[in-house]
Amino acid sequence: MKIVVTPRGFAKCGLDNVKIIEDAGFLVEYNDTGNAYTKEEFYEKTNNADGVIVGVEPVDKEYIDAHPTVKAVVKFGVGTDNIDVEYCHEKGIFVGRTVGSNARSVAETAISFILADSKNLYESILCTKNSGWDKMTGYEVEGKTVGIVGFGAIGKKVAQMAFGLGMKVLAYDPYGVDEAFAKKFDVTSVCMEDLLKDSDFVSLHIPLTDETRDFIGMPQLEIMKPQAVLINTARGGVVNEADLFTALSQKCIRAAYFDVLTNEPPQKDEPLLTLSNFYLTPHIASRSAEAERKTAAMATQVMIEALKNQK
Ligand SMILES: NC(=O)c1ccc[n+]([C@@H]2O[C@H](COP(=O)([O-])OP(=O)(O)OC[C@H]3O[C@@H](n4cnc5c(N)ncnc54)[C@H](O)[C@@H]3O)[C@@H](O)[C@H]2O)c1
Repeated sequence: MKIVVTPRGFAKCGLDNVKIIEDAGFLVEYNDTGNAYTKEEFYEKTNNADGVIVGVEPVDKEYIDAHPTVKAVVKFGVGTDNIDVEYCHEKGIFVGRTVGSNARSVAETAISFILADSKNLYESILCTKNSGWDKMTGYEVEGKTVGIVGFGAIGKKVAQMAFGLGMKVLAYDPYGVDEAFAKKFDVTSVCMEDLLKDSDFVSLHIPLTDETRDFIGMPQLEIMKPQAVLINTARGGVVNEADLFTALSQKCIRAAYFDVLTNEPPQKDEPLLTLSNFYLTPHIASRSAEAERKTAAMATQVMIEALKNQK
């Protein structure tokens, strides 16, 4: 049986898993080109594979129908919005993910956005690079309120770190907030409206699903404080970007820090990028050597277990 691994992170940080896969009795091929596969390469390289470990490549009906040997798909990460999970299950294909493997890195990115905002780091560095010496006055984050939407692996890590910074932490998750964890880190579980109304930072940690598409639009942005900051390290699509453009232009909220966007990379004329209060990083929240190592190891284990059960 053959396992094909497409994410570049595996070749960079996960090569010690090659022997583990081989010792378990599987052949393994991985992407060591340094570049993401094109659609054609992805289709061709995973031809005749029994298991594929994927990044953001669409594993949709077209792909599944074109690859009838595939018995297991494991996401190198946690967001399975690029995988047609329902169709996979219909076809008897196992779908796995690496729960929690990159939670710390993504949470650190969300917290970095809060700290960068508080001390005007982006503008200050840009200023000195341009030979300026403007001393902007920021604020301390202690006592400020962060509202966490989605209290899963990442949301909980953000809560823990924010608690450590002396922030007040609110959480909204209709599927349940871990009560023991909430108690330990002084997290208050609230309804979405209260979270929007009371937070200085709203940080999104929900998956992109039919239910969460456009989860934040004008009705939600209008409830937020005018001084509030929206942070999205989850997925493009959970925020209605046209509404966000309007809200930021009209100063309905103060700023937004995003790591993800509906179209990645964005078009050159992406309206949000013209705004001085919109900050975007290129989907790097989970990119740390530690997270890639953990993700590679976990994806390997999940895949081996899945295929062993199918042998
Ligand atoms: N930017 C990045 O590099 C990066 C990296 C990892 C994950 N992510 C994104 O972050 C998301 C969260 O990751 P995670 O590891 O915490 O996943 P997780 O599955 O552990 O947690 C997701 C949480 O969202 C909750 N949720 C689902 N629907 C909700 C809704 N309508 N309202 C509020 N909460 C809801 C779930 O109950 C769950 O607790 C992923 O789905 C992925 O899209 C982004």
